[in-house]
Amino acid sequence: MSITFAIVTCSSTRNLAEDTAGAALGEKIVAQGWKLLSRVVVKDDRAAIAGAIAGAADAKVDIVLTCGGSGLSLADVTPEATADVCDRYVPGIAEAMRATSLKITGRAMLSRAVCMQRGSTLVVNLPGSLKAATECFEAVYEQFEHAVLMTAGAGH
Ligand code: MTE
Repeated sequence: MSITFAIVTCSSTRNLAEDTAGAALGEKIVAQGWKLLSRVVVKDDRAAIAGAIAGAADAKVDIVLTCGGSGLSLADVTPEATADVCDRYVPGIAEAMRATSLKITGRAMLSRAVCMQRGSTLVVNLPGSLKAATECFEAVYEQFEHAVLMTAGAGH
């Protein structure tokens, strides 16, 4: 099953060439046989992040992965931006990421990441470092195809 993705990296310090976490996520998506439709870097700006998420969702991408900006720094606003443009929480995905990550590092409890739906698009907040982003992706990606099928109205 082919599903489509957009990656929105949220960082005021990185550009696309320096975005190793976003690039690694893109490689993992392609390795699954899925399609990466866009990858952008936006500043840690709530309106800019919200706009990038909404734009990707309204282009009918199945899953938007955000990368970074979900920690405790006052500049971290990705969860708030996500909630600004999404309708419903999908808490189990964020719970699974934190549960799996806590077995690797206690710092996982410092994640404020949320997962939500905007219409039929699933938005998943991932942390910003290469290591953390890939660990969290690995924790949940196996459920992505089923999530997309269920969103489209398929039964179990
Ligand atoms: N999850 C995993 N698997 N591995 C990690 O190293 N780092 C944590 C957490 N989740 C981490 C993790 C830390 S230190 C922070 S601050 C939060 O993710 C948020 O990261 P972000 O601000 O880059 O989004």
